[in-house]
Amino acid sequence: MSRPLPIAVLLSGGGSNLQSIIDHIEKGLLNACIKLVVSNDPLAKGLERARKHAIPSRVISPLEYASRERHDAAIVEQLQKTGAEAVCLAGYMRLIGKAFVHSFPNRILNIHPSLLPAFPGLDAQQQAADAGVSFSGATVHFVDEELDHGPIIIQGAVPAYPGEGREPLARRILALEHRIYPQALQWLAADRMRVDEHGLARLLPDEPRSALRLDQPACLVNPPLETGF
Ligand code: GRF
Repeated sequence: MSRPLPIAVLLSGGGSNLQSIIDHIEKGLLNACIKLVVSNDPLAKGLERARKHAIPSRVISPLEYASRERHDAAIVEQLQKTGAEAVCLAGYMRLIGKAFVHSFPNRILNIHPSLLPAFPGLDAQQQAADAGVSFSGATVHFVDEELDHGPIIIQGAVPAYPGEGREPLARRILALEHRIYPQALQWLAADRMRVDEHGLARLLPDEPRSALRLDQPACLVNPPLETGF
């Protein structure tokens, strides 16, 4: 097996996606090594998760910097010191600026709880519930200069049911996030992700001459189609 991909994780809250990344590494499913966890918030629960697994962590608070650019620069400096080659935003509740994005070109990933480009921004689960969609889901994408935008690596869809409100939908989405983020990272670790000339992410087959096999249903319809349709 090739050397583990050195990564850093940025978060602001509970860190359940961090936990899922850790679990997939520990199970040998994800060939990566977390060099550093950074939080902008000293109270983020995700920091405890890092400590429990002996992963180095740091709080880098925006309150200590005069501008967003300087805060970003302090984070980039720390990340580069650790040798991280990819950065995972996992519930990191701050916008990252241009200079940060360009410090890790096509090496910053984000997970967002909707099927982008639908419902970017805050509380995507509530936005989806309010819109009465039949499906929502989660997206892992490379980060560019726009909020919740950039080449899409993987999406997972879950059904949404009329009148159920935000919480059941959010739970379904989060459970799927915990599966698709480690998968996206493993593709990156295996050097199977490219961004093509149209700015779209492409997954390479795992052997040079094999085609990609899609042996799972690629079509979801909700409410279900009746017999005959
Ligand atoms: C997730 O819903 C993620 O999609 C969004 O922030 C939330 C983070 O959750 N960007 P957790 O901190 O990983 O539990």
